[in-house]
Amino acid sequence: MSSSVEHRCDALIIGSGAAGLTLALKLADKFNVIVLSKSTLSEGATRYAQGGIAAVFDEEDSIDSHVQDTLRAGAGLCDPSAVEYTASQAKRCMEWLIKFGVPFDQETDEQGNTRYHLTREGGHSHRRILHAADATGFAVQNTLQQAVQSHPNIHLFERYNAIDLLRHEKEPTQCVGAYVWNRKQEHVEVIRSRFTALATGGASKVYQYTSNPDVSSGDGIAMAWRAGCSVANMEFNQFHPTCLFHPEAKNFLITEALRGEGAFLCHQDGTPFMHKFDDRGDLAPRDIVARAIDYEMKRLGADCMYLDISHKSADFIVKHFPTIYRKCRSLGIDITRQPIPVVPAAHYSCGGVMTDFNGKTDLENLYAIGEVAYTGLHGANRMASNSLLECVVFAQAAAAHILQNSDRPEFHQDIPAWDESQVSDSDEEVVIQHNWHELRLFMWDYVGIVRTTKRLERAMRRIELLQQEIHDYYANFRVSNNLLELRNLVTVAELIVRCALQRKESRGLHYNLDYPQTNDNPQITVLKGEV
Ligand code: FAD
Ligand code: SIN
Repeated sequence: MSSSVEHRCDALIIGSGAAGLTLALKLADKFNVIVLSKSTLSEGATRYAQGGIAAVFDEEDSIDSHVQDTLRAGAGLCDPSAVEYTASQAKRCMEWLIKFGVPFDQETDEQGNTRYHLTREGGHSHRRILHAADATGFAVQNTLQQAVQSHPNIHLFERYNAIDLLRHEKEPTQCVGAYVWNRKQEHVEVIRSRFTALATGGASKVYQYTSNPDVSSGDGIAMAWRAGCSVANMEFNQFHPTCLFHPEAKNFLITEALRGEGAFLCHQDGTPFMHKFDDRGDLAPRDIVARAIDYEMKRLGADCMYLDISHKSADFIVKHFPTIYRKCRSLGIDITRQPIPVVPAAHYSCGGVMTDFNGKTDLENLYAIGEVAYTGLHGANRMASNSLLECVVFAQAAAAHILQNSDRPEFHQDIPAWDESQVSDSDEEVVIQHNWHELRLFMWDYVGIVRTTKRLERAMRRIELLQQEIHDYYANFRVSNNLLELRNLVTVAELIVRCALQRKESRGLHYNLDYPQTNDNPQITVLKGEV
């Protein structure tokens, strides 16, 4: 049986988080747009973002200071022009979100003037984080979602997995759409598009412990790589220092803004420790804080460290952090009286599909925006709250570029229908499940916060074995969400380990005990795609 369902659009946007929805809204007045979402429309990292979005709104702050802080957090590996571009677009892009109705918190000063309340996070030398209490992502997702749902030119395809990008047969540098799997009807369909954008988010699901939702399985990175795009800096996976440590809490983050408002990390007996690791103490960039926690946990044989904000008034805590207060309370932890048990977890993919400042990849008509992309902004370590900003800034840049090129001729060709005649339903789901767990566990153990070359090589050998098994599976069995994600995760794992093995130094988020030094003349790690 082969599928013959085919859709056409001007722009296919794969992903419905901050990046995908911003691009959709920017294109929809002129274009017929399809937005794909692997799960429900709202399920992605965006919805769970807590801390906020960095932008210079305070008169005493400056774009130059935002740039300098980002460069410093990025440990010498940011592209300065990407940083300058992003920081200079930040205020305009936030005003765009505000116009749509994102309810960022406001405060009234002594003279009775209303202004946005700005919080602080690690690496920032000023208060510059716009936020909606401790649920900023939810506010952004909700607002953008309402706008796309009411736009007549935007067609929302929920529960559709993009499987692979389609390239033109005779002009293989041209992307002409994607094969997609309709999860509800369990068949493969074709979407032809003049322009395609990957907005699929990050790949932190490749690790056993993560702050990310299930959809963050690196699909866009793997699809782009298979289609011949280059990827960069995949070794720099950010581990957030403070995820809630509790058997019933899956993936729950404790925002860095807590430390921005005075919380401190400590041992179980209340002894603070961050000042031993960095002059900036609890507000050092994330790579340093995560490594410090990892070090203290291993040194003391402890299951977790603690984050204490109980010295602040209960009113202050509940007002600023209502989501965290309620979540912890539901698990029996009263954060106004006791410290919060925390552990680091995989949080953000700093590397990704290489793009220019228009979000354009190596393929014609193919863009990558948001966490899936490598733009040069984050370097070896992303500074807090620069990610949602990157989503909006680069989605808008991509939209402008697409609109400028909207008179390009459409490529016509017959697209082979997906052939399922040779495949049967997998009765070995247990094997897929097992491989999922195995991959994520050895990535955590061998390719985590602290690495060695021997462990990286060991991980690569396991990856090669898994790839062979998954290849056989993919050829012989009907697709399923688990199989598609596993296929992508193992590709992402390979790219991470290859990049990590190439880097013969320790820098930012990549720390290798065999190369503890930081080299002069830092270089990004590029894996060149083959079209
Ligand atoms: P996402 O929001 O992750 O959306 C990805 C979309 O792609 C989803 O719709 C998904 O269904 C879809 N998708 C994926 N694969 C496929 C496929 N194969 N087919 C079809 N659809 C697919 N950043 C900040 O700047 N500030 C913060 O305060 C902050 N807090 C965070 C807190 C948490 C708990 C987490 C997890 C992240 C946080 N981040 C924060 C990071 C930030 O939220 C993300 O980097 C950002 O939201 C990514 O947005 P995105 O649009 O690129 O992808
Ligand atoms: C947080 O709120 O701590 C997360 C912020 C981010 O990842 O940028």
